[in-house]
Amino acid sequence: MTVASFIPSPYKSKLETGSFTWQSPSNIALVKYWGKLEHQIPANPSISFTLNNCHTKTTLSYTKRANNSTDTFSFEVYLDGELKLDFAPKIETFFKRIEKYLPFLTDYHFKIETHNSFPHSSGIASSASGMSAIALCLMSMEKQLVPETTTTFFTEKASFLARLGSGSACRSIEGPLVGWGAHQQITNSTDLFGVKYDGDVANVFNNYQDTILLVDVGEKKVSSTVGHSLMEGHPFAERRFEQAHKNISKLIEIFKTGNIKGFIEVVESEALTLHAMMMTSIPYFILMKPNTLAIIDKIWEFRKATGSNVCFTLDAGANVHVLYPESEKEEVLKFIKNELVAYCKNEQYICDQIGFGAYSIDS
Ligand code: DP6
Repeated sequence: MTVASFIPSPYKSKLETGSFTWQSPSNIALVKYWGKLEHQIPANPSISFTLNNCHTKTTLSYTKRANNSTDTFSFEVYLDGELKLDFAPKIETFFKRIEKYLPFLTDYHFKIETHNSFPHSSGIASSASGMSAIALCLMSMEKQLVPETTTTFFTEKASFLARLGSGSACRSIEGPLVGWGAHQQITNSTDLFGVKYDGDVANVFNNYQDTILLVDVGEKKVSSTVGHSLMEGHPFAERRFEQAHKNISKLIEIFKTGNIKGFIEVVESEALTLHAMMMTSIPYFILMKPNTLAIIDKIWEFRKATGSNVCFTLDAGANVHVLYPESEKEEVLKFIKNELVAYCKNEQYICDQIGFGAYSIDS
């Protein structure tokens, strides 16, 4: 697939008014995307678990505008029924980036109604689930205009568009494992969109659990977008990008053999490397909080004392994703309740597990 293949031929049919609803999940990277080139092209490949319970449900309603000669976008965004004017710049940027691939955008007024399954101020990034949900709604609209759209094209273009909204969003369309960015060992992998990982995966990774400990629920001090840009000219950038390729190769072998100790090593090292990149950029910054480190310490102690396979990963924030096999759920949840919850803001945590991607809720 090339970028040009996502530019449609002139549409033959027309739409007046209607709506589409999609539910799209969040995802957690095992090998992290950190650093990008122009046009939302990742500096290194990444791979993620798609989540199940953390999701965004979005209804996109469209109405044909009377004067379609205008080149401005017309939309309103609601979160849980409340008009969100502060979401407008992000949607505007998204629409500008994708207009070439969906030339009907300026012909309609859009009402975007969105709901997150997790609290808005939980510090859980809603951009992956939110942007992928909008991209899917827009693809449903395009499918009405181009009825011959195949399922494969639909999925790839939805991911391609989601990427232009937020890079990691392109990994939220499918599941349970999605690779984004060209990597020799991932079939059909590309920088343009996420692809479902189709290699062998040992049973131990089925229904893998992710309990998200909410350590800091405020707005992030440094956005991911700014963080990515600080990888330009970063002294360790090239080595880091090489390492991501190697870590994906390691994970592929680990998925095949079910080497869970190897999994823990790659995943925790990736999380700490992500934060190490933040601490060594100019300007430097720290997104972990003292409680993030306290939790990591407790996880290491627990693993040492009990032989558990629990491990952690982090995204660009202070919250901790606690990952473990389904077979260890009872012990790990007990450990979380007894020893980790005290480090969470208002004792909040979210129990999630691997999911299978987005789905349409239109009847
Ligand atoms: C640390 O996808 O949020 O979560 O493309 O600028 O929207 P933009 O960035 P974003 O970056 C996510 C970074 C990460 C790692 C990951 O998900 O791979």
